[in-house]
Amino acid sequence: MVRAVAATAWDGAATIDVIDVASRRPARGEVTAAVRATGISPFDLKQASGMMGRDERALPLRLGNEFSGIVTATGPDAVGCDGRPIEVGDAVLGQWLPGAQATELTVAAGMLLHKPAALSHVEAAGVLGSGTAAEHTLHAADVAEGDVVLVHGAAGSVGGMVAQLALLRGARVIGTAAPSRHPRLRALGVEPITYGDGLADRVRALAPDGVSAAIDTAGTQEAMTSSLTLVADPARVVTIANFHAAVAHGAQALGPGPQTERIRTAARLDLVRLAADGVIVVTIAAEFELERAREAYALLAGGHAGGKIILRP
Ligand SMILES: NC(=O)c1ccc[n+]([C@@H]2O[C@H](COP(=O)([O-])OP(=O)(O)OC[C@H]3O[C@@H](n4cnc5c(N)ncnc54)[C@H](OP(=O)(O)O)[C@@H]3O)[C@@H](O)[C@H]2O)c1
Repeated sequence: MVRAVAATAWDGAATIDVIDVASRRPARGEVTAAVRATGISPFDLKQASGMMGRDERALPLRLGNEFSGIVTATGPDAVGCDGRPIEVGDAVLGQWLPGAQATELTVAAGMLLHKPAALSHVEAAGVLGSGTAAEHTLHAADVAEGDVVLVHGAAGSVGGMVAQLALLRGARVIGTAAPSRHPRLRALGVEPITYGDGLADRVRALAPDGVSAAIDTAGTQEAMTSSLTLVADPARVVTIANFHAAVAHGAQALGPGPQTERIRTAARLDLVRLAADGVIVVTIAAEFELERAREAYALLAGGHAGGKIILRP
């Protein structure tokens, strides 16, 4: 039997259980992998809480989207999205794989990449979901050398990636975070700043010549209001977490769609290479055994985990 994390009730909170599900042999173009590490993200929590719909027939709803593991069986014509055949024993990683929080997965090989040896399974399970979203925000805000970028939630999973990738593009990065996260951000080259009352004034004091773009991963009213106050062109204010406010004020909100899929898909190989080379860091906040998924979701729900939360079968 395979053990899998699932939402098991729509009762107003996230009711998380680890359940038994059947194993499945890979068909043509598929592989089965033993999961070594699997990420959890706010999207999973929103799904489990019923924020994305409460269809009783969907229960138990398996959770998760990203994982890293070892291939244990392959169907014919199993080729990864990196164009390389996938064989038994290969280490692979992937995202956009519903139900990835499990001990074993059978999935389309074309959704997987080979995992470089330099990247641990834990890092590999945390790099794609946050990294591809981060790359998308910088693409949307057209961040380039010389820009001054304000990143809201710079110590979070996506925000941490946004900050590092913006620095790689040659931008100066000011990042909001709780004070306890400031030393870590400074070490990455980010200028940390505390969120809360007076945020816009604190940013102005740091960057008197202005901020050219802002990326919001926090989703607060303060993040949107301060960004629109500080950035001259609202189209260079990009959020992944506050859709209504963005639409009302001419900022960009990045949700699902063909453009999102195209940009994020194209970013995968480079992100894995950058992480394997140590150019970007996947900050891991905590690791839990898969059977302790409830505790992991509770940490995520607190909103200040400080990086990626990983489950390990
Ligand atoms: N649209 C998309 O495609 C997409 C993709 C991925 C994620 N998302 C969304 O993006 C958001 C962030 O995801 P994540 O994985 O990065 O979450 P995360 O790792 O939990 O990070 C959340 C961050 O928010 C910060 N924060 C909490 N309260 C705050 C406040 N009042 N003001 C400013 N910052 C605050 C936290 O900072 P401190 O710890 O420093 O307090 C933390 O770093 C979630 O809402 C998620 O659903 C959307």
